[in-house]
Amino acid sequence: MALWGGRFQQPADQQFKYFNDSLRFDYRLALQDIDGSIGWAKAIHSVGVINHDELAQLVTALTQLRDEVEPNLAIILQDQAEDIHSWVELQLIKKVGDLGKKLHTGRSRNDQVALDMKLWCKAQVRLLQGAIRDLQAKLVETAEAHQLAVMPGYTHLQRAQPITFAHWCMAYYEMLERDHGRLVDAYQRMNTSPLGSGALAGTAYGIDRDALARDLGFECATGNSLDSVSDRDHVLELLACASISMVHLSRFAEDLIIFNSGEAHFVELSDRVTSGSSLMPQKKNPDACELVRGKTGRVFGALTGLLTTLKGLPLAYNKDMQEDKEGIFDALETWQACINISGLILTDIKVDTERTKEAAQQGYANATELADYLVAKGIPFREAHHIVGEAVVYAISQKKALEALSLAEFAQFHSAIQEDVYPILSLDSCLGKRCAKGGVNLDRVAEAIATAKEKLGLG
Ligand code: ARG
Repeated sequence: MALWGGRFQQPADQQFKYFNDSLRFDYRLALQDIDGSIGWAKAIHSVGVINHDELAQLVTALTQLRDEVEPNLAIILQDQAEDIHSWVELQLIKKVGDLGKKLHTGRSRNDQVALDMKLWCKAQVRLLQGAIRDLQAKLVETAEAHQLAVMPGYTHLQRAQPITFAHWCMAYYEMLERDHGRLVDAYQRMNTSPLGSGALAGTAYGIDRDALARDLGFECATGNSLDSVSDRDHVLELLACASISMVHLSRFAEDLIIFNSGEAHFVELSDRVTSGSSLMPQKKNPDACELVRGKTGRVFGALTGLLTTLKGLPLAYNKDMQEDKEGIFDALETWQACINISGLILTDIKVDTERTKEAAQQGYANATELADYLVAKGIPFREAHHIVGEAVVYAISQKKALEALSLAEFAQFHSAIQEDVYPILSLDSCLGKRCAKGGVNLDRVAEAIATAKEKLGLG
């Protein structure tokens, strides 16, 4: 039975009921709806709508209901209620009879659903922050173990300058640090309670909304009631946080797919996160990485979808807003799964350090070093750049690395190139010189790892 039957002479069409009902997805808000209802019971008691004894009965029944559903929210799906708010109220009436019908005094499902979503979003932020921290810890651990693993760094997917696998790991650590920070910001902004805004114009009962907000774990109550019931910025912000973070995870996955390819062969992904081909027995496919990359699309889709849904809505509540749920439920579940699987991907990764070193030595990744060498000899950088470019063309034609050219060969390009050039062209020198903050110098990377470990509270 719906909560609003009085005005209607005909039952809802079954097809419409299915179209309109949200219980099949908003059952996930059960605990938030019950917690909000306990808060609301206390609030209406504080203004004399229910007496002390009635409050005690409502709180006991709601607490009991909470304990019943918490182990398995999905049991709610067996029922036919319109939405989670109706379901909780109907269960309450089953438990305490007519007293249950008093709970909705002064409240609307509009401020109720706004509250439930905020409580749910807040809880999700905490879970996601934990997941991000775990993945960061895994990245730092992997970095620590691969500080000497020299590999080529790329721009335009062309070998550019040597880096280390540790430096690569720490780049993703930084991205996740920003993802974490965005959640911190979003949490702060969503930490205000809309409960007590009524349907749109405010509640007609003089409750202390700030006290109610604090009782529900918020910093304070929201301001304008029209905004309170129609604001879904917190959902959008979380979807934006998820989307940006998925960009990072997708790039991480893509890098690993390249590193794991037969062409690069820098890393070997573990059997635990790869799958075979049904036809080609030799294959070991990087499915986990591909799915992280692939799932990015649906997270972006949820953000774009909700932005589009909200953009034309007149104030205040409109049923369109029910469409905020499936997208965010799916997007945050997907994001979290991708964070977790990324940690698993790193767990057993094997880096072939001989292969990465060999690749770092090829591709003229030390050409910048030769240019800097000439600069140190007083040649302007632009000129040095040109000279080295010619030397590279020559070296390619001879199928030789730069460091394999003799002094006589170097002399064709500039007389300033002397015996002291050879140590400069070594991988060690390339790495060692990049010693300003954030560079690939081994000490700088070790410092970055130490700072990260301290931040994450790792011993
Ligand atoms: N299921 C609804 C939603 O998610 C709850 C609010 C219903 N409010 C209303 N006025 N019909 O948005």
